[in-house]
Amino acid sequence: MPKRKILIIDDEPGSIEAFRIILKDDYEILSTNSAAEGLRIIARDDVQLVLLDIVMPEMDGIEVLRKIRERDNSLTVIMVTATKSIKTAVEAMKLGAFDYLSKPFEVNEAKLIVSKAMQSRALLQELEYLRAELKQRYGIGNIIGKSKAIKEVFQTLNKVAPTKSTVLITGESGTGKELIAQAIHFTSPRKDKPIVVVQCAAIPETLMESELFGHEKGSFTDATSRKLGKFELADEGTLFLDEIGEMSPAVQAKILRALEEQEITRVGGTKLVSVDIRLIAATNLDLKKAVAEGTFRKDLYYRINVVPIALAPLRERKEDIALLANYFLDKHGKEINPKVKEISLEALEALTNYSWPGNIRELENIIERILTLTSRSRVLPEDLPRDIREPGSQDTAAGSVASEGLPLSEAVERLEKEMILKAIEKTSGMLSETAKQLGVTRRVLSYKMESLGIKGKNSTKL
Ligand SMILES: Nc1ncnc2c1ncn2[C@@H]1O[C@H](COP(=O)(O)OP(=O)(O)OP(=O)(O)O)[C@@H](O)[C@H]1O
Ligand SMILES: [Mg+2]
Repeated sequence: MPKRKILIIDDEPGSIEAFRIILKDDYEILSTNSAAEGLRIIARDDVQLVLLDIVMPEMDGIEVLRKIRERDNSLTVIMVTATKSIKTAVEAMKLGAFDYLSKPFEVNEAKLIVSKAMQSRALLQELEYLRAELKQRYGIGNIIGKSKAIKEVFQTLNKVAPTKSTVLITGESGTGKELIAQAIHFTSPRKDKPIVVVQCAAIPETLMESELFGHEKGSFTDATSRKLGKFELADEGTLFLDEIGEMSPAVQAKILRALEEQEITRVGGTKLVSVDIRLIAATNLDLKKAVAEGTFRKDLYYRINVVPIALAPLRERKEDIALLANYFLDKHGKEINPKVKEISLEALEALTNYSWPGNIRELENIIERILTLTSRSRVLPEDLPRDIREPGSQDTAAGSVASEGLPLSEAVERLEKEMILKAIEKTSGMLSETAKQLGVTRRVLSYKMESLGIKGKNSTKL
């Protein structure tokens, strides 16, 4: 790897020489005693860092720094000064100098500051790259659809993105709630700040408060150091509370307070910390019903339901199915199987007629599966899973097992397993109920489950 370049601009030859000796092993050193020449070098050469003397006869360092900034906002500059003038140092920092070194400097100090500056530069570049990637991945351009339903979503999204309004996104699983939340953030003025996602359902109740609001060192047994919560991490950015309907009423109350006051207190702390966040919430539950049933706080519901965006299930926007299928074919085809070029009309028709209980995520998964399995360049109906090709077949587990051509004993096992799993699903894991549905005793069911390697949904529910 070529050495990274450092430019030293200093009117004292001794100072340049000292830097050169210290840094020449690790970096390529360019130097000049003239500010004007220094600016010319920066303009034509790929300099990564500048060591800039503040006091020079021809043009002072601050002026040079200002000129550098006019052209390049990201070039790392370390100021070098013989006089410790706080005022100048502050001015230099304001103009975005990374740090400053006082003459005479210690060898190690100079080395350390330069290597820190290089590291921070590398991190910033990486951050910039990742941000650009994210913006590209979550841009509005990646939301596909031409149905009336999705067009309305685009309209609302464009209107709401530039504001700070709270958005509540609802829709079945896999309808694109997270995608829309990200798109709002990345088209909003907050796009250069983080969007912090909280998967409310995935965090145990006991940890929720500390996750959201952070904690002070020693506030509970495992709190070995201070930790910032999601609200603080999202400061000046967007907080995305996913599956907000899963939050307990106690946590709901705390979230409401944080939103109203725009202030939080870390667990175990006393200080109020102000936070400036834009909130986006999502849920696949019917929150209105949850309010009526008393499981979701009415006041929080009103506080978050400012701009609602309801995502229709895929089966209610059939015009989008072919478009999405081709989009996913293109998106994943390049990586998985570039040989596949198109989906036949017959296959598209079958995809359009299917009910898509898992919505767009299910469609995306199916396209990935087809790409993995097919050896044709054109997707035909026979490449589709059976329950899509033959609507109505998905409920007969026996039918699908039979068509797979397994040995009888294996097929029977598979069928038993599928039936038991379905019954467990239907009875929400109440095993005595499951046994009743299947017409066996609880003991037989337990035996079967164990021999088939099925774990109960919730072993305490009997
Ligand atoms: N309109 C769309 N255009 C392109 N891709 C989409 C669209 N809607 C959803 N997707 C893709 O479908 C997948 C599921 O979307 P997403 O995770 O946003 O759904 P969700 O509603 O949050 O689901 P869940 O409720 O299960 O969390 C993602 O890979 C997403 O990129
Ligand atoms: Mg989601």
